Amino acid sequence: SEIQPTRVFYHPGTVTREERAKVLRQTGATLWFTGLSGSGKSTLAVAVEQVLIQRGHAAYVLDGDNIRFGLNAGPKILADTRGYDDDRAKRFGLGFSAADREENIRRIGEVAKLFADAGLFALASFVSPYRKDRDAVRKIHEQNKTGAIPFIEVFVDTPIGMCEQRDPKGLYKQAREAVAAGKGMGFTGVDDPYEPTVKPELTFDASRQAVEEGVAMVLNYLVQRGLVA
Ligand code: PPS
Repeated sequence: SEIQPTRVFYHPGTVTREERAKVLRQTGATLWFTGLSGSGKSTLAVAVEQVLIQRGHAAYVLDGDNIRFGLNAGPKILADTRGYDDDRAKRFGLGFSAADREENIRRIGEVAKLFADAGLFALASFVSPYRKDRDAVRKIHEQNKTGAIPFIEVFVDTPIGMCEQRDPKGLYKQAREAVAAGKGMGFTGVDDPYEPTVKPELTFDASRQAVEEGVAMVLNYLVQRGLVA
């Protein structure tokens, strides 16, 4: 089937980002936490959210596991909870193939951008293993129609050994067993790649740093950038 021409047009608002910032007393930004499953990215994002809120800043965590129950639900969840038939569930549900991960990150990148444009600190915590997908999210922030939005990538660079040792959901074990059985599971770090960013704004390693150190690092950076007083 042929792709139809678009008949949608961008409608600009009249409120400027500066006006919004004055009301909220902050300009907002996206902090993008990326790293292996079990690396501690959600723990760090949640701790940063807590400190930002304590300091009077509006912040909100968007977390892979949670978003995959709602906005980016998989086929099974859509079938069970929304009554989607098989075709519809497969068409709109997202799994962990490269194409589905790309779509997952595209959608959540757009959501984070909207949150940040609205003036919040959007704290996105997703494995987001492919560099080109993270770069695409960075690009939509830089090219935002109402002015560039700060995009801060936090690479949670915890060695796989520690992630696997923690294995809070038993998924590494499952992935290793699947590989041993010759089936594979497409699990990041085991039989699917994680592509590190060459120059992330910040790096955190949970095997060597305490969460509080990570929070202080992020906060200092936000102060340096003039995003937090
Ligand atoms: S991605 O790659 O960015 O689209 O993934 P994300 O939306 O962040 O979801 C990652 C969580 O889903 C669980 N999970 C998997 N991770 C990686 N690879 C495969 N195949 C997979 N299957 C399920 C895993 O628990 C991730 O949770 P976190 O919180 O990162 O540990």
